[in-house]
Amino acid sequence: MRAAVIHRFGGPEEFEIVDDFPNPTAGEGEVVVQVADAGVNPLDHKIRDGSSGMAAQLRDEDFPLVLGRECAGTVHEVGPGVSEFAPGDRVFGMAPLDHKGHCYAEYVSLPQSALAHSPDGVDDVALAGLSLVGLTAWVAVQDLAHVGPEDVVLVHGGGGGVGFMAVQLAREAGATVYATASARNAERLRQVGATPVDYTSEDFTQVTPRPSVIIDCVYLGTYEPSMDHLAEGGRLVLLPSLADIGPAKERGIDVSIPRIAPDRERLDALGAALADGRLTLTIAEVLPLAEVAEAHRIVEAGHTPGKIVLDVAGG
Ligand SMILES: NC(=O)c1ccc[n+]([C@@H]2O[C@H](COP(=O)([O-])OP(=O)(O)OC[C@H]3O[C@@H](n4cnc5c(N)ncnc54)[C@H](OP(=O)(O)O)[C@@H]3O)[C@@H](O)[C@H]2O)c1
Repeated sequence: MRAAVIHRFGGPEEFEIVDDFPNPTAGEGEVVVQVADAGVNPLDHKIRDGSSGMAAQLRDEDFPLVLGRECAGTVHEVGPGVSEFAPGDRVFGMAPLDHKGHCYAEYVSLPQSALAHSPDGVDDVALAGLSLVGLTAWVAVQDLAHVGPEDVVLVHGGGGGVGFMAVQLAREAGATVYATASARNAERLRQVGATPVDYTSEDFTQVTPRPSVIIDCVYLGTYEPSMDHLAEGGRLVLLPSLADIGPAKERGIDVSIPRIAPDRERLDALGAALADGRLTLTIAEVLPLAEVAEAHRIVEAGHTPGKIVLDVAGG
């Protein structure tokens, strides 16, 4: 099958498009998905360059390696014990943490628990970019920060993939929401009920009230002032998996980092919310699979206004 592979850790130039990568098979409880589109996430470039904790678990025999943690497409084949999906079903989902990914390819084998049926009326591009940011924001806003109507929430990086989802889920929970972002994201944030703060010209510690919750999707440059600004007894959620929670712990702050896993019920709920317009996912750009290196350069630059998606079927 056609796939984007890397032979070693390194820069975006390491990608090679091959046409003879072995097709996956559906093992017990697994579903082979014919991938239409695959989402690109910061985690992907952190695995590609070897800096992610997940990269440390990879062995020589895992190369050539196909990256990509999430996708949307059609069921191609189901393995023994799969009862909820059949060939031809439209599905979307994300690879579990102990799975090596493989979504930047024509076919991927995923556990059935990592997939949900695609809702009618939502295209594969949007669904390909929904799972990882949607589930992460859900864990951050609900499971870790327990956001409710009484909260004032500040989201750093509100224009990004996770941040924009976190803003919307916090608004849905009834909270008052502020979000740091550059000016080009301001209108989008206002439309979902947040007050944007342009971090390029404003100091968030001066223009927002002391929040009871900070969801920090940026970390570098925002962590220290966030600890100072957070209200007494507040909750701080740091997004980067390798963030150092030590300094916040030392100050007695309730601090945590999301650790996400695919969750069928939540994927169904996210898909339904996208279908009926309660949730908006901004697609910044769709690039053909052949331009995977460029997709990584864009995401790595750190200012993507929404999601970058790879067109695998057509590209
Ligand atoms: N723990 C987990 O399970 C988990 C899961 C998913 C993601 N993550 C991590 O979460 C982080 C964000 O991921 P993402 O997918 O949301 O990334 P993304 O889509 O690339 O978004 C990053 C956003 O940050 C904004 N930004 C950059 N510098 C900023 C600053 N100083 N202040 C405010 N905003 C700033 C950029 O917007 P502007 O254009 O406005 O600058 C951009 O929209 C990454 O580190 C990722 O690895 C962790």
